[in-house]
Amino acid sequence: MTGLIRLSGIGKTLTGQGESRAVLSGVDLTLHRGQSVAVVGRSGSGKSTLLSLLGLFDRPDDGTYLLRDRDITRIPERRAAALRSAGFGFVFQRFLLLNHLTAAQNVAMALVNGQGWLSRRQRGAKVAAALDAVGVAHLAGHRPPRLSGGEQQRVAIARALVREPEVLLADEPTGALDAETGDLVVEALRGATRRGCGLVLVTHDREHARKMDTVLELVEGRLT
Ligand SMILES: Nc1ncnc2c1ncn2[C@@H]1O[C@H](COP(=O)(O)OP(=O)(O)OP(=O)(O)O)[C@@H](O)[C@H]1O
Ligand SMILES: [Mg+2]
Repeated sequence: MTGLIRLSGIGKTLTGQGESRAVLSGVDLTLHRGQSVAVVGRSGSGKSTLLSLLGLFDRPDDGTYLLRDRDITRIPERRAAALRSAGFGFVFQRFLLLNHLTAAQNVAMALVNGQGWLSRRQRGAKVAAALDAVGVAHLAGHRPPRLSGGEQQRVAIARALVREPEVLLADEPTGALDAETGDLVVEALRGATRRGCGLVLVTHDREHARKMDTVLELVEGRLT
């Protein structure tokens, strides 16, 4: 396995209503291709903050962020946006699907930007493969309101995977699902790592965390 992401000494202070708080201090994290890492920690421990730094939505105050050995700690926003869309897939607690589009159309939306030109046929094949990878190929023509929560979340994962990201970042993707449905979603995420994707899963569910290769806990701003 080669190093995909290497965070070292990451610090982040957030300021709200005049009060500032060191949310992360000295966070080290290594993610390899095909590796899955669970991040657990109590509410407010900084898990979402860490994911937003990993996903280049925000920048750290201290430390370095290497992606494939390139230092991207302070790259300008334009390059960060390009990297986000080319290299990262995101899955959130809320599925954020468009209700008036079918499952397949929701996934196809992710191919509209940043993929260069694709023929209709190539696009269709990628969408079908992504839906199939998470076990919802048979639901391609259904609109989200007719799908269960777990099915919607798997469509959302297909949307994150269709661009073949190197890194998948998931923040409480099973938070809105019952246990059994959550298991299917975690299985779908694990499936992505078998195809070489690095996965960082933030979860409150210890069972789900245990299914990852590595489990890290955020305590007082550090990963242990
Ligand atoms: N914009 C902000 N300004 C100030 N403080 C913030 C801001 N955003 C988040 N925080 C604080 O930073 C801390 C970490 O927040 P974060 O959302 O990363 O926690 P979390 O571990 O994801 O929690 P949860 O499990 O509830 O989702 C919290 O104490 C939160 O109140
Ligand atoms: Mg959070």
